[in-house]
Amino acid sequence: MADPFALGVAFEEAQDPDDRTRRGAWFTPAAVARLLVDRALSAWSGPRPPRVVLDPSVGGGAFLLAAHERLPEARLVGIDIDAGAVAVTDEALAGAGATDVVVVHGDGLDPSSTPEGADLVVGNPPFLSQLRTATTRDDDRRVRLRGWYGEAAEGYVDESGLFVLAVSRLLSPGGVAVLVVPEALLATGSAARMREEVSSRCGVEVVWRDTDGVFPGVPTCALLLRRVRRGGVEGARTGGDSWAALLADDVPLVADPVPGATRTVGDLATATADFREAYYLVADHVREARPGHDDPRITPVGLIDPAHHRWGATTVRFAKQRWERPVAVDLPPAFLATRSGPKLLVATQTKVLEALVDTVGDMLPTTPAITVRTDRPWHVGAALTSPVLTALAARRHAGAARTRTALKLSAAQVLALPLPDDGPAWDAAAEAFRAAHDTTGPDERTHLLQRCGASMWTAYGLEADPAATGWWSDRLPRR
Ligand SMILES: C[S@@+](CC[C@H](N)C(=O)[O-])C[C@H]1O[C@@H](n2cnc3c(N)ncnc32)[C@H](O)[C@@H]1O
Repeated sequence: MADPFALGVAFEEAQDPDDRTRRGAWFTPAAVARLLVDRALSAWSGPRPPRVVLDPSVGGGAFLLAAHERLPEARLVGIDIDAGAVAVTDEALAGAGATDVVVVHGDGLDPSSTPEGADLVVGNPPFLSQLRTATTRDDDRRVRLRGWYGEAAEGYVDESGLFVLAVSRLLSPGGVAVLVVPEALLATGSAARMREEVSSRCGVEVVWRDTDGVFPGVPTCALLLRRVRRGGVEGARTGGDSWAALLADDVPLVADPVPGATRTVGDLATATADFREAYYLVADHVREARPGHDDPRITPVGLIDPAHHRWGATTVRFAKQRWERPVAVDLPPAFLATRSGPKLLVATQTKVLEALVDTVGDMLPTTPAITVRTDRPWHVGAALTSPVLTALAARRHAGAARTRTALKLSAAQVLALPLPDDGPAWDAAAEAFRAAHDTTGPDERTHLLQRCGASMWTAYGLEADPAATGWWSDRLPRR
């Protein structure tokens, strides 16, 4: 017969787009399914080949077809919530000559419809973000998931995270799984309970990253889980707190905890991030600045560079328009009171941590900028601007931002970053950071930021790492 993978492709293309979005039905190309099955098999260390292979959201059957090519003797089990997908997979597997096949129409998250003790699990579970209306679960489903997965199913955890959890439970001891997931799952707080439980029974690795845009729009990777064998450890177990470091191979390694760190930003500062509501409120009050104005200067993250406020030097998009010198007029006094005054602004969704001191107190940051208040803005700003903290944050929080090269931290995560003891090196860094604010040329500013960075290595009690400094320096904006 014709290529059995082609049946799934034709089926996927024929689906209603809304229905497809609701079920997260984006199938995996044959080449990627084959590659990931091979990754799973190379992690298999059992005394015999895997006997039962499962895909709990089987779609057109790409993963089971790839598994059948490598393991013609294995039983193939597939589940899908879509009856059409079940029929297509059945037909495709029959066409490929597989005979030991069970494809079930059901919910892959329902423990009563999944087999116990699968040796190998492969697949690409549906990505159903709970922050998008089209894919939000209804109350019924919320209650059911809570019953099956307890606290891990509370809040906004993406459905794909619950598939990872389900798979970690049903893998046989020594079993291996490879699952395609959104990278955000490795870092986001909403999946923390899932990660904790999975880490308690499995070693976790990243074995593939979608650098070619196979799944457009969402940074995607493949996780490998190895279920710990009874009475022994199979593969290193990963800390459940965050798996972000698994994505950060290309980020220079900075010891975490930092040996010379005695406290955190939270010991010297408070930090807040505005909600979307504040953005909409400011959007209703934006104007172009008149000469001689003294209105708060609206400062979206695009106008925050390290030690450099770009307001007035470039145009910026805000509230669906482009502005030259945006200010906010007639804001409610109570709203303004909590936002004015000297502060440190920290941009996120950027390639390095970018801190800027507002000595006058007239900058009005908008989401996702973070406002840090401290008596020692130059010192805290110097630390935040250092290569040490950018590398550390990139490892701690990889995968959380909208793009692969960007960093995204919450206010609480900024407060948890380490600070060193007082000393001359930190003072020198703070001085260079302050001087960088006063320069107008990008070269001089870069030079001062590099001096600040060099002193911060010493302040943290670390040997300056030229590779890490170079990596950070290449990412600094120069404008
Ligand atoms: C991203 S597609 C992947 C399909 C296949 N594993 C592949 O990689 O080609 C996700 C599939 O999950 C199915 N699905 C969505 N929710 C499900 C659920 N709760 N249980 C089982 N399947 C589900 C969809 O119908 C869709 O076929």
